[in-house]
Amino acid sequence: MDAEITFWPSGRKVKVKQGTSVLMAARQAGVLISTRCGGNAACFLCKVQLLPNNEVMPMNEVERRKLGNPETAKFRLACQVKVTGKVEVEVPPDPLKAAVARQLAKQQEEDLLW
Ligand code: FES
Repeated sequence: MDAEITFWPSGRKVKVKQGTSVLMAARQAGVLISTRCGGNAACFLCKVQLLPNNEVMPMNEVERRKLGNPETAKFRLACQVKVTGKVEVEVPPDPLKAAVARQLAKQQEEDLLW
């Protein structure tokens, strides 16, 4: 059986085999999730938020060590989360793009003062 993942805010959907990681599914869907460690749960750049009622495997030991209590963790690591059914994922903005956007907004505010 396939799993279906929807990525927000783009709304892109992709069907993948059960057991596929959210990171691999994102790549198939053409959704950018930053990584630096190649999916080894070391860089924390792939943090995503799972929307309620998702069909995913519970945290594995590596992810539990990195993020702590699964009941209170606000984010999951896309490289570690394996999908089993229907899943909706909120992908935070790319940190570099977000920093550039903040800097541009600040520059525009300063330009208005002159
Ligand atoms: S890709 Fe680095 S922690 Fe997931």
